[in-house]
Amino acid sequence: MKDYKQLVAQAVYTAIDGQLSEEEIMAKIERPKALNLGDYAFPAFVLAKVLRKAPQMIAQELVEKIDKTGFEKIEAVGPYVNFFLDKAEFSADILNDVLVNKEHFGDATTGENRQVPIDMSSPNIAKPMSMGHLRSTVIGNSIALLMEKSGYKPVKINHLGDWGTQFGKLMRAYELWGSEEEVKNDPINSLLGYYVRFHKEDVENPELDEEARDWFKRLEDGDEEATRLWKWFREESLKAFTTVYDRLGIEFDSYNGEAFYNDKMDEVVEILEDKGLLQESQGAQIVDLSEYDLNPALIKKTDGATLYITRDLAAAIYRKRTYDFAQSLYVVGNEQSNHFKQLKAVLKEMGYDWSDDIHHIPFGLITQGGKKLSTRSGRVILLEKVLDDAVSLAQEQIETKNPSLANKEQVAEEVGVGAVIFHDLKNERLNNFDFDLEEVVRFEGETGPYVQYSHARAMSILRKAGVKEIDPSKAYRLTDENAWETLRLLGDFPETVARAVAEYEPSVIAKYAIHLAKAFNKYYAHSKILVEDDQLEARLALVASVAEVLKESLRLLGVSAPDEM
Ligand code: ARG
Repeated sequence: MKDYKQLVAQAVYTAIDGQLSEEEIMAKIERPKALNLGDYAFPAFVLAKVLRKAPQMIAQELVEKIDKTGFEKIEAVGPYVNFFLDKAEFSADILNDVLVNKEHFGDATTGENRQVPIDMSSPNIAKPMSMGHLRSTVIGNSIALLMEKSGYKPVKINHLGDWGTQFGKLMRAYELWGSEEEVKNDPINSLLGYYVRFHKEDVENPELDEEARDWFKRLEDGDEEATRLWKWFREESLKAFTTVYDRLGIEFDSYNGEAFYNDKMDEVVEILEDKGLLQESQGAQIVDLSEYDLNPALIKKTDGATLYITRDLAAAIYRKRTYDFAQSLYVVGNEQSNHFKQLKAVLKEMGYDWSDDIHHIPFGLITQGGKKLSTRSGRVILLEKVLDDAVSLAQEQIETKNPSLANKEQVAEEVGVGAVIFHDLKNERLNNFDFDLEEVVRFEGETGPYVQYSHARAMSILRKAGVKEIDPSKAYRLTDENAWETLRLLGDFPETVARAVAEYEPSVIAKYAIHLAKAFNKYYAHSKILVEDDQLEARLALVASVAEVLKESLRLLGVSAPDEM
C-alpha cells in the first residue's frame, strides 16, 4: 500500500517554496474526524507567520497551486487544505494489499527477530487463579501476538509463585489433615482448604508455626519427602491452571517460577556486595534507592531469607543472558508498580544499562457492583464459572438466532470464551472495570460476539456469492461512497497494529475491530452487495478483505472467529 500521508506531504511541499521541509509538513498533516472534511488536512496557518498572510488566504492559494493528480479533489475550508483521495485508486491499492498478504497484511519487521520475554499470568501454587491473573494472562497473550506480528520473538514466561514459607505450612497441614485422593480430585480447593485450616488452628496451637518452619527448612535443604510433596502440589496445581489456559487457547514457553531461581540468588547478592550496594539496616540487607525517590529494596531478611525482589533480580539477569532480549516485559497488576520501579533501579545501580529495556505493563482492577473483589468478603469471581456461564449464554443466543447451525457446541465455546477475553481487552488496560456477565456476551454493542458476528456475516455473503477465492491480482476499483469509511479503515490497520505494539495496548486493536465491524455493517445496510453489475467483484473483494482483517484483529486478541454463527 502506498503511503498516502506522504503523497499529501509531497504535494504540499512542491506547492510551497521551501518554507517547510517534507518532514515538517508530514508532522503537521492531520486526519480529519468527519469524512466530509477529506482524508487528510494540511493546516495552512502554520505558514501564516512566514508568509504574513491570513491563513484562509494561504489555504486558498495552496489549493490553486497544488498538483491534483492522484486526488479526487482538494478544497480549502477556513485555514485548512483538505485532501480527498481518489477512491477508485485507493480501493484497488488497499484491497490488493489485503488479498495478496492475507493474514500477513500489517506485518512489520520492527522487531528484527529479537526476543522479548513476557512475564505473564504467574499465579501462585495451591491457590485459585484470581481475576488479576486472568487479566495478566489475556493481556500478556495479546501483547505476545502483537509483538510477533511486528517481527519480535515473544517468549511467554509463567513466573509461577511456587516457593516460599507458605509451602512449609501447606506441608504440615497436609501431614495433619490431607488425603492424596482429595488433592488429586480437586487440587486447588483441597490445598487451599488445608492452608486456611492451618491459619485457623495456629491461633490456638502456635507450635504449628514452628513445625511449618521445620518443613520449609527441610524443603530448602532438599529433603526427599518435602521435595516430593512440593513437586506434587506444584504439578497438581499446574494441571488445574492448565485447564483454564487450554480453554483460553493460551500456551507458555516456560514455567520457570520463583523456585527456579533458588540457586541463582547468591550470585546476585555477591554482585551487590562487590559493588558496595548492600547496606545493613536493622539486621537486614538493603539497597538504598533514595536517589530514585524510592523506598529501599529489601534484599535479605534478618534471618538470611531472600525476598521477592531478590528472585526478580536473578530472573531479570537470567533472562538477559538466556534471551539477549530487545525488551523484557512484565504484565503484572498496577499494585506492584513500586516493586518494578525498585527492580529497575537496583539493576541500574548494578551497572546494567539494559535495565532501560525492562517494562512493567500494569493493568487495573476488576470490580463487581463497583466493589473490589476479595476472597474474604466472598466477592470472588470464579473463572471456570464465568467461562461456563458465558458459553451457555452464547448457546442460548445461537439457539434463537441460528438453530440449524452445524457445530453449535464448538461455536458456543468460541463465542463464550471469546466474549470474556474481548471484554477484558477492549478497555484500556490501566482502567478498572466492572464485571457484568450479561453485558459480556451481548451480540450487539461493543462486544466480542458483535465483531465475531460481523466476520461471520461477511463469510456468509461470500458463501452465498459462491466465491472460494478472490483473484488478488485484479484491480478492484470500488467507487461506492458508502464503502469509503470501511475502505479507509482497512488502510488504517497497519498503523493501528504499530500503535498497539508501541503502547503495549491490546485495546487499540479491540476498538479498531469494533469500528471496522460497525462501518462494515453500515455499508451493508446501505448498499446491496449481491447484485449483478460491473462493481460486484469489487464489492466482494471488499467483503473478503473485511473478513480477513476482522479475523486477524480477533486473532491478535486471542479470540477465534468462527465462519458461521
Ligand atoms: N505471583 C505473583 C502474584 O501473584 C506475580 C508474579 C509476577 N512476576 C514477577 N516476575 N514478579 O502476585
